[in-house]
This record gives sequence, C-alpha cells and structure tokens, in this order.
Amino acid sequence: MPEQSPVRVAFIGVGGIASMHLANLLRMPEADVVALADIDLARIPDTLRLATARMSPPIEPPVIEAFDDAGRMLAAASPDCVFITLPPFAHGEAEYQCIEAGVPMLVQKPVGLDMPTVRGIERAIAERGLITAVGYQTRYSEAADTARELLADRTVGMAIGTYLGGMPRTLWWRIQEQSGGQVVEQATHVVDLQRYLVGEIESVHAAAATRLMTDAPSLNINDVSAATFQFENGAVGTLLNTCGLNDVPGESWDHGVTIVARDLSMWVWHEGGRIAQPGEVRELTNSTDCKYLLDEAFVRAVQTGDASNIRSTFADAAQTLRVTLAIEESARTGSPVRPADLG
Ligand SMILES: NC(=O)c1ccc[n+]([C@@H]2O[C@H](COP(=O)([O-])OP(=O)(O)OC[C@H]3O[C@@H](n4cnc5c(N)ncnc54)[C@H](O)[C@@H]3O)[C@@H](O)[C@H]2O)c1
Repeated sequence: MPEQSPVRVAFIGVGGIASMHLANLLRMPEADVVALADIDLARIPDTLRLATARMSPPIEPPVIEAFDDAGRMLAAASPDCVFITLPPFAHGEAEYQCIEAGVPMLVQKPVGLDMPTVRGIERAIAERGLITAVGYQTRYSEAADTARELLADRTVGMAIGTYLGGMPRTLWWRIQEQSGGQVVEQATHVVDLQRYLVGEIESVHAAAATRLMTDAPSLNINDVSAATFQFENGAVGTLLNTCGLNDVPGESWDHGVTIVARDLSMWVWHEGGRIAQPGEVRELTNSTDCKYLLDEAFVRAVQTGDASNIRSTFADAAQTLRVTLAIEESARTGSPVRPADLG
C-alpha cells in the first residue's frame, strides 16, 4: 500500500484491553479505525466511550461501524489489519478468518491455550507470509532497550521474575479452562521478558496451589505459583506469582524481571526500570508508553510492509506460551518439563 495512506484497522473482541488500543489508535495519525466486531454488540459503545474518555484530552466517541460477527465484518469492511483482542479461550476461528482474508493481525497474549491449535495458526500465518504482532508491550519499554544494551557483553547469572498482585474482575480469568491460569494469562508477560532479555528456556520445574482466593466463586486456578528455570545459555531463573494480593499497595519489585549479572542488578518492567552497580543507582523512566509503541510498530509495519520493528511476532509468542504451559504442567505433575517437549 502507498506509504502515506492511513492504515484501516478493525477489531475482533471489543472489551477491556480493546479500550487501551482504541485510545492509542484514535490519536495515531497513521491509523483509521473502520470497524469493530464483538459477539456482544452492547460492549462496543461502552468500550468506545471508555477509550475516548481516557484520551488526553478526551474526545467524543466517533461513529465506527459495529458488527456482531467477525466474518461479516471482514467481508464488509475489508480492513488493512485486525486487532484480535479476544479472551484466551476464544482464539482460533478469528485468526483463521484473518489468514483466509490475508489480513495482518495484532493478537493479544496469550495467543491460545494449547500448542496444537496455536501451531496450526502459526503454520498458516507462515504460509501466507502475514505480518503479525502480539501484545507483549514490555519489549517496547526503553528500559528493556537499556537492559539489552547493558547485557550484550555480560554473562547473565540469574533472571528473577515476579507477578504479585490481585485478581482481575473479568469472570473468565479465574476459570482454568478459559484463561489457562495466572501463569499462562498474566505472568506470561514476565516469562516473555525473561526470554527477550536472557534467551530461550530449556526446562522448568514448578510448584503451585490454590490457598488464598478460595472464597472467590467458580475459581479453580492456582493462586500461588513458584517456578525455577534453566536457560539454554546456562543462566537460571525464577517466576513467582500470585493473584491473592487484592488492593494491597504494591512494591517496586512485585512485577517485572530482575537480572543479576556480575556486579550488576537491573530491574525492568512496563514503565521503566532500575540499574544498580557499584557507585551507581539509575532509575529508568520510559518517555513514551510502551503500549503505544507496540501499536505504532504494528501499524507502521502494515503501512510500509517492513516488519523489522515488531518485537514479538505470533511465532515468537507461541514459544512464550509453550514455556508457560510447561510451568503449568510441571506444577500439575511435580516433575521438570522441557517446553520443547510440548510440541
Ligand atoms: N497486554 C496487556 O497488558 C493486556 C492487558 C489486559 C488484557 N490483555 C489480554 O487481552 C485479552 C482480552 O482481555 P480483556 O480484558 O479485553 O477481556 P474482556 O472479556 O474484557 O473482552 C473480550 C471481548 O471479546 C468478546 N468476545 C468473546 N468471544 C468473542 C468472539 N468469538 N468473537 C468476537 N468477540 C468475542 C467479548 O464479548 C468481550 O467483549 C486477554 O487475552 C488478556 O490477557 C492484555
């Protein structure tokens, strides 16, 4: 497409996270949001209102064509790309519809709940040569750039990962079959960042339990989990996560990745990070919201055909899913699991 035309964007799934993407895209000169599809049509105006209210300054919600069927939306609107912002259990059909239509996709994490489905989608995307991006925004954090620069000529000893917080209100989140559990659905951001900063994870060993949120109706996920990793390059790592800290004031280290190298400790997360070494403590604050940078990288890739600034593709995100499923399996069986063995 000509480099200057705005990219015509559509959405499949217009709930909570779609409001964040919409707020980004409605102020992005390169993007024009042309269609929104959700099986629950009533969600669409609510989400649009939320998106425009969170913009700075807020704007009136624009009129955007709404559909209750993704297939009809793709046929009627012929978008240049689609944001697939569906709950974890709903992936599959929408991706194949976009692949069939030859439309690039930004897919929210996790990209699915089982490897056979996700591998099938990954292969079909590769066959069509489609541009994809996945919602691992921390890769676009300036603190992650700084970390990668600092680590380029250093040996990483250890990568400590934490996701210690409360439980999202969305009802599907607490149901194992629908969300995959906290590691797969949420702490996946931490695992993805560990892969991005340190390298591939060869094996995991985990223990997990449901101990804190037993009064939450329908909850059947683990609410505490502790995993250790062996990275392919010899480094070791951990992931500690809980959703049992509702409305508890946060600590700086309770979400993110702390990398330990010789005489260097570095913490990285969405908003920034912190570097500590002998004689120096440096706080890092991102100048641009990394979620905006993620959306911009995808839209520009669709506009120019150059996907080199996309930091997480569908295929790469499938590997993060494989690691998080391995952690779940290890917690279930009590044995170490090699992600590669999950297919
Ligand atoms: N990157 C991040 O930081 C981040 C933050 C929040 C959520 N997320 C991810 O975004 C995804 C969505 O989360 P959410 O909080 O927006 O969920 P949500 O439940 O608020 O919204 C999902 C929407 O999808 C719709 N939907 C369900 N099945 C559909 C189908 N087959 N076709 C069309 N629409 C359908 C629902 O009606 C709902 O409106 C999750 O995978 C979540 O992990 C990512």
